[in-house]
Amino acid sequence: MDKLVIEGGRPLRGTLTVSGSKNTALPLMAAALLADGTTTIDNVPNLRDVNTFSDVLRVSGAEVEFDADAHVMTIDASTIDTPVAPYELVKKMRASFYMLGALLGRCGKGRVSLPGGCAWGPRPVNLHLEGMRAFGAEIELDEGYVVAHAPGGRLPGGTFTLEPSSVGATINLALAASTAQGTSRIENAAIEPDVVVFLEALQRMGAQIDGIGTRTVEIEGVDGLQPIAVTNCPDRIELGTFMIAAAIAGEPNDTIRIENANPDHLGRAFLDKFAATGTHFVTGADHVEVSAPDVLEPVSIETAVFPGFPTDLQAQWSVLLSQSPGAATITDTIYDDRFSHIPELARMGLQASVDGNTVTVEGHTHLKGATVMSTDLRASVSLVLAGMVAEGQTDVLRVYHLDRGYERLEVKLQNAGIQIHREQYDEFATPDVLKDD
Ligand code: EPZ
Repeated sequence: MDKLVIEGGRPLRGTLTVSGSKNTALPLMAAALLADGTTTIDNVPNLRDVNTFSDVLRVSGAEVEFDADAHVMTIDASTIDTPVAPYELVKKMRASFYMLGALLGRCGKGRVSLPGGCAWGPRPVNLHLEGMRAFGAEIELDEGYVVAHAPGGRLPGGTFTLEPSSVGATINLALAASTAQGTSRIENAAIEPDVVVFLEALQRMGAQIDGIGTRTVEIEGVDGLQPIAVTNCPDRIELGTFMIAAAIAGEPNDTIRIENANPDHLGRAFLDKFAATGTHFVTGADHVEVSAPDVLEPVSIETAVFPGFPTDLQAQWSVLLSQSPGAATITDTIYDDRFSHIPELARMGLQASVDGNTVTVEGHTHLKGATVMSTDLRASVSLVLAGMVAEGQTDVLRVYHLDRGYERLEVKLQNAGIQIHREQYDEFATPDVLKDD
């Protein structure tokens, strides 16, 4: 198993490069299943989740080729003869549940494992299932699998309101509705950039979609979609993570450049809150330049659906708050208990208290290096950020969580002045203290 070893206190300098968006690449890969031919996607990040989803597509019969160095993926979906998404793969990556919409859309049926929960609690899929039923699918649960089929082989279409709005359900329902017999409408649809880029790609494939980027998406079903060549957008969460890293580990009289970025995809709320910390930054069409302030202002945040503050950046924000001189709060309105990083950060000296879906973080914390445990993707990157500014050495264990969503993070940070490297370790080795002399 791998860990990242960080020697804190080194300033972040120079340039960081953002990889392609994980949460946009995955739906684009699912969309390729709807086309009888070969779809090409470039700027695909080389991540565990992308490679897991590639295997899920292969199970269904698609041929997936991924040039990880060039970040180019081709998906030949000419033959989809096994409409199944097995538990062994779906349990590793919940977005595999997009196979339900893709298989219903392409084959009129599918047997897809329920994704189960994740590190911070239940991740229901009731909206996905209720929406598919509203579009005319017959859905049964069998031994942990969703067994779905369109009576007569093709969904009639229908109307469904998402409450709450859901990124995954919007994507899954659009996959199924694109080739339905009739027209479908999704109310309170998600408008995250991941969803907009995905819906625009579906439209280029021949889907008849109105209302992209609005809360009401209307889809008139077509007989089939055509393969396309599409470019994935940059990862907005990695961009936000790097901006926070620059704010806490950059030097005040220096400028850090973050390239291959789309700052518009972060949403106004994050950019306004980031500015309120006193961090100076300039945004360009494909980059952001950041200069750390002498003193970071403690700025409380509350997550919300786009264009609100992204829930995927709240863990990273708690490290920023620890380096500011006063107390502030983080409230996550999307998930109730996404604070598994707080106890780990507390082992490094973070002073924080969790009350329901709000954490209060005391500022002016002198973090000290420690061995800490990753629990989920965004929690693990907050531990790396803390290790960068802590005194001494921090070992971040179980970085397979990190590898799900950050491509070669330690290499990117090494190239920007951070003393960090990857090591293998045996999680189950006998502790030295128990070893016979
Ligand atoms: C997507 O997850 C992202 N994952 C998540 O990023 C992100 O945190 C989340 O959107 C919110 O922005 C991918 O895109 C692969 P939701 P998703 O459905 O689609 C509730 C990361 O770190 N809900 O928008 O699963 C749900 O419990 C990951 O990259 C239902 O109640 O999120 C939550 O409270 C973590 N029933 C809210 O909706 C449902 O059927 C929003 O979830 C579905 C969701």
